[in-house]
Amino acid sequence: MSHIKIRGGHSLHGEIEVQGAKNAALPIIAASVLNNGMVHLRRCPQIMDVHHMLRILQQSGAGIMWDDGDVWIKTDQMDTVAVSSLDAGKMRSSIILLGALLGRGQEVTMPYPGGCTIGARPIDWHIDALRKMNVQIDLKENKIECKTTGLKGNRIELPYPSVGVTENILLAAVLADGVTEIIHAAMEPEIADLCRFLKKSGACIEGEGTERIRIKGVKTLHDTEYTIMADRIAAGTYMAAAAAVGGEIVLKGIHIENVRAVADVLVESGCGLIIYKESIKIIAPSMLLAVKEIETEPYPGFPTDMQSQMLACLCQARGDSTVTEHIFENRYKVVPELIRMGGNITVDQRRAVIHGPCRMHGEKVEAKELRGGAALVIAGLAAEGETVIHGSEHIERGYQDICRDLGQLGAEICCITDHTERRWEDN
Ligand code: EPZ
Repeated sequence: MSHIKIRGGHSLHGEIEVQGAKNAALPIIAASVLNNGMVHLRRCPQIMDVHHMLRILQQSGAGIMWDDGDVWIKTDQMDTVAVSSLDAGKMRSSIILLGALLGRGQEVTMPYPGGCTIGARPIDWHIDALRKMNVQIDLKENKIECKTTGLKGNRIELPYPSVGVTENILLAAVLADGVTEIIHAAMEPEIADLCRFLKKSGACIEGEGTERIRIKGVKTLHDTEYTIMADRIAAGTYMAAAAAVGGEIVLKGIHIENVRAVADVLVESGCGLIIYKESIKIIAPSMLLAVKEIETEPYPGFPTDMQSQMLACLCQARGDSTVTEHIFENRYKVVPELIRMGGNITVDQRRAVIHGPCRMHGEKVEAKELRGGAALVIAGLAAEGETVIHGSEHIERGYQDICRDLGQLGAEICCITDHTERRWEDN
């Protein structure tokens, strides 16, 4: 197991390059199986979820090569019938492999997806959508069996702008027979990044970034190289950290429109922003102000993946801030640990009220999921004394090297991995 040690009380200064986006890299890696050739990705984040996704492809016969942030994926030797349960059950994203693998072969069997325990995370909309594209799906007790005589385009109206379902339909539609229209599509920047990758590979897509996406199936996709977008949630996390502990930092590689909702909240809390073409400077105020109302919504609303980090940040703000989580039903798991560190937070179902400012003190705490773990890092940076965060492998699922990044900005932080446990790059 690994853990993170932080000695709080340091403000943050300097600049860092923002890592590649986890939630763009995962669907783009899934899409790499569609061209039956070679894909070269740049700025691919070296994180556990990416490793698991690549290992699933590798175990089905794909060739993988890393060189720092570059990864090459060779898929002409893949057998895509059965997907290994070893990794597929460890993360949510394995479900979007269905669309990609069906787009490539005739049948796929895979275990149910895993992922953070932030909610039930059903897959009913994924199944409904693929069935509408001529996929026969048999939901067995511990695996999903899919067969198709050929994917067919269709008009699919989503009950909700689901990110993963939009991605699954895109991956199934690009090589399907006919036209697919997605109504109420998700508009997250990661969807647009996936579409840019697919179009660069030869797919015929229009409307990405809007709630109506139209895909005309093509016969084949060709080899591609592509630079993955910067991770807007990692950027938002570091912005919230700087706001919480003071100082000023520059985040390189990030576009303001991808972090607009988070930036607006931080400006409301008194932060200054200087926006450059490909980077953002955030200047923290001497005293953060409470933020009246934050409601998590699908993009372009405030991202649910920044909700926990904002709870930790607003513990430093003067006054009462309110956060309402509309997307996942169990995304306040980090609150008891924040309270143990001195946070004054009350939760009533989907609403959390932070009564700030809170005098945070170092504690031994446990990360139970990815973004809650990031919130504990922010709380540790702001706390007096030493904080030890156990379960930091959850954080490694989405942050390439949070200790290196924050250490570069002046934090007193280190990641300790139990050396009996092999780190993934050793495999
Ligand atoms: C993606 O998850 C992200 N994960 C999540 O990021 C993010 O929180 C979420 O989108 C919302 O933005 C990746 O991209 C790998 P959804 P996804 O389908 O696709 C319900 C992180 O921290 N739903 O948009 O699983 C679902 O339960 C992670 O990086 C169904 O009911 O999210 C949820 O309430 C956490 N049935 C809502 O829709 C379905 O079949 C939104 O989920 C599918 C979803």
